[in-house]
Amino acid sequence: MVRVATIGGGPIVRTFVAALGEVPGIELAGAYSRDPERAAALASEFGAATGWSSMDDLLADDAVDAVYVASPNSVHYGQALAVVEAGKHVLLEKPAVTSAAEFTTLLEAAAQRGVIVFEGMRNAYDPGTAKVRELLGELGPIRRVSFVYCQRSARYDQVLAGEQVNIFDPELAGGALFDLGVYCVSALVDLFGPPDRVLGLTVPIRSGVDGAGVALAAYPGFVADLSYSKITVSGRPSEIQGEAATMTIDHITAPRRLEVRTPAGEIRQYVIDPPTAGLPVDNLRFELLRFLDLVAGRATPEPDQARTLETIRVIDALRAAD
Ligand SMILES: NC(=O)c1ccc[n+]([C@@H]2O[C@H](COP(=O)([O-])OP(=O)(O)OC[C@H]3O[C@@H](n4cnc5c(N)ncnc54)[C@H](OP(=O)(O)O)[C@@H]3O)[C@@H](O)[C@H]2O)c1
Repeated sequence: MVRVATIGGGPIVRTFVAALGEVPGIELAGAYSRDPERAAALASEFGAATGWSSMDDLLADDAVDAVYVASPNSVHYGQALAVVEAGKHVLLEKPAVTSAAEFTTLLEAAAQRGVIVFEGMRNAYDPGTAKVRELLGELGPIRRVSFVYCQRSARYDQVLAGEQVNIFDPELAGGALFDLGVYCVSALVDLFGPPDRVLGLTVPIRSGVDGAGVALAAYPGFVADLSYSKITVSGRPSEIQGEAATMTIDHITAPRRLEVRTPAGEIRQYVIDPPTAGLPVDNLRFELLRFLDLVAGRATPEPDQARTLETIRVIDALRAAD
């Protein structure tokens, strides 16, 4: 049994704890908050034995094998490094960290300690993405990839009212690329490998981060465009265009409806209906299953870590170019 502690108090931690209940072989050891009262309240809410308000206490606790890090993005690295150096596995919320240099250091530390560093990138482990990959062979030579994730954040209203909120705070590595663009970049890298070259443009907002943006990526024989936003919404599906057919994907983080359309007008539709549909974020359990395989040594983490590293390299390049 892998005993996992949580860091963070946002909705995603609640989803994570709900997903834990769906996956055998992993259980909640306790919850961390910087505030003792919140730590106790989280532990009580989750039915966990312990609520820590000291990272040292959490890291020294022999009843913890792994830590799930769901703090603001810029905080991930320091917490993850401390977890790894304490000899525990770490499951990082996306984006794992905010630079490739940070991720490389984490991997080196993990190799020394013999523990797993893993980014919970939902789409990478979703059965819908596996179906997308399977159908790529029907598209002929790929010529264009167009991935979209535009979702207006309710917290943008606070930004408009002049408040600073974590997810739009540059100090905490907020903004649309780190929060939503990362899904598009990760899916691109996952399905097609790292691009040869990238270009990016962003829409700055008053809080000091990108509210939206586009990225272009060049591959041998095809191009990709990625659109992401936290200040507007889109009804456009994602799409992969090949010479033999085009696939549309309803949602890049959890593909559920795929359509393959040939130039002759033939349309084939696919519905992915995983057994967990209905949970708030129904594909989080798939990343948990993979994490357990890695911790148990049933699979090696290198492909997962390479995807994360290449994704962050693309993000580094996009940020440097902006
Ligand atoms: N996979 C998904 O679908 C998904 C969905 C949403 C979010 N996420 C990811 O989950 C992570 C957390 O997102 P969120 O929106 O829940 O974040 P958040 O609410 O801004 O912060 C999460 C918790 O971190 C602690 N915290 C806040 N500011 C901090 C600071 N400056 N230093 C240290 N700790 C701080 C707070 O807990 P205490 O004050 O109690 O310590 C807070 O409850 C992000 O990386 C995000 O990208 C993933």
